[in-house]
Amino acid sequence: MKHLLLTLFISVISSYLLAQSPDLPNDFLGKAWHKERRANLRASMPANSVAVFFANAVRNRSNDVDYVYHQDPNFFYLTGYREPEAVLLIFKNKQTAANGTSYDEIIFVQERNAMAEMWTGRRLGAEGVKNLLGLDQAFNGSQFKKYNVDFSKFTEVLFYDFYNDVRDNPRDSADLYSLIDQFKQKVNYPKQDNSLIVAKEQPKNNLNTRGLNQLMANLRGIKTQEEIELIRKAVMISCVGQVEVMKAIEPGMSEREIQGIHEFVFKKYQAEDVGYPSIVGGGHNGCILHYIDNYKPSLDNKELILMDLGAEFHGYTADITRTIPVNGKFSPEQKLIYELVLNAQEASMKACKPGVDMAFLTTVSREVVNKGLVELGIIKTETEKHLYFPHGVSHHIGLDVHDKGNRMLEPNMAITIEPGIYIPNNSATDPKWWGIAVRIEDDYLVNKEGCELLSGYAPRTVADIEAMMKQSSPLQKFKLPDINPKK
Ligand code: GLY
Ligand code: MN
Ligand code: MN
Repeated sequence: MKHLLLTLFISVISSYLLAQSPDLPNDFLGKAWHKERRANLRASMPANSVAVFFANAVRNRSNDVDYVYHQDPNFFYLTGYREPEAVLLIFKNKQTAANGTSYDEIIFVQERNAMAEMWTGRRLGAEGVKNLLGLDQAFNGSQFKKYNVDFSKFTEVLFYDFYNDVRDNPRDSADLYSLIDQFKQKVNYPKQDNSLIVAKEQPKNNLNTRGLNQLMANLRGIKTQEEIELIRKAVMISCVGQVEVMKAIEPGMSEREIQGIHEFVFKKYQAEDVGYPSIVGGGHNGCILHYIDNYKPSLDNKELILMDLGAEFHGYTADITRTIPVNGKFSPEQKLIYELVLNAQEASMKACKPGVDMAFLTTVSREVVNKGLVELGIIKTETEKHLYFPHGVSHHIGLDVHDKGNRMLEPNMAITIEPGIYIPNNSATDPKWWGIAVRIEDDYLVNKEGCELLSGYAPRTVADIEAMMKQSSPLQKFKLPDINPKK
């Protein structure tokens, strides 16, 4: 008894200390929030089913260096767990363990290991997961193999199908590879198929790899107030990045340097990461929609620069694009194209309200753009097929930059509106337009009446951008030594 009390005391104190740790931010989503997400998923699951989620894999970059770990967004949404090598099971109905305990969720996580933690960082372990994440049934991953639940008794076993891109660590029988392998044995996953998705057909058993995505989209598409707060923060951080670049940019700077200013601002505000690789394209590089090379060493005086970047803050990402003239003043052609894109965005924004299909926002922008391109003589008719605006204008944002969610707009959805016009060099139009690429992308929160512009802090109109670019920046005085060898 004494021993039990002491253990309890130590675990309460250590979880209190960890929760209060000066080494950690104190504004993560709380355990009650994640628990509510699991309850909502359980409520939407079919009768007599179980949903199974795996943590994201650690991806190897090369040799003994891995990519920075990023949790699977569904796993994070449901648990708050930010470590690899874990599996979560959520049951529709209560289950009874061999010792008589009743439970409807269970998680297996990577074991604590002093030596590993000295090299690669602290682990919560099963006790930490119980105390800090509030999952009462938490065990070490090594116990999953013996975990005895008869999967054949469920009407449906819901899980995301596997892509064969998880490495086996032969020295770890509870790594993600092993957890997946053990799960496949437990559920009689068909051996002959590499993947049920590839097989195109659902097997004739109780395995369902198609249903979970819609359930998660229903949940994740509608943001809670806590999520909206984090999205607002990620958006604001990203806007400040755009503003600081508007003040600091000068011809001769490199694309990489501009990327660095944005990402420095993100880090200054404690954003953990970027939500997607930063897109910083000078001149015609902006015509490559997801241009992430960012190699151009010296931006030209007369070109535009297209900057599509989003800070990720506590899991949630912004997605904002500004296109500005490197020298601070739009040329007449750049201004005409810019204002056409802005008009398209404003028109889509007016159309954005509950009950509207997101695809309609693209239709609205496309109409404005096509009409404008005819007026400018860039295309001949509004119905002409062209590649100057080759993408849709709207997607959800959240834990993923292209977040899960339904297309029919509802209050508390967070979305982008992002029309663009891209005129590559040598296009079949007057050369005065060549190399002009403009995208304007803002983030919005759908409300009852329409939508709220979240990213308005970063100037959008020609006049506001040019005015902001007249302001000075301390970065203009930030000079580093010339490290090029003397010729
Ligand atoms: N940054 C990717 C996108 O705009 O969808
Ligand atoms: Mn986007
Ligand atoms: Mn974007």
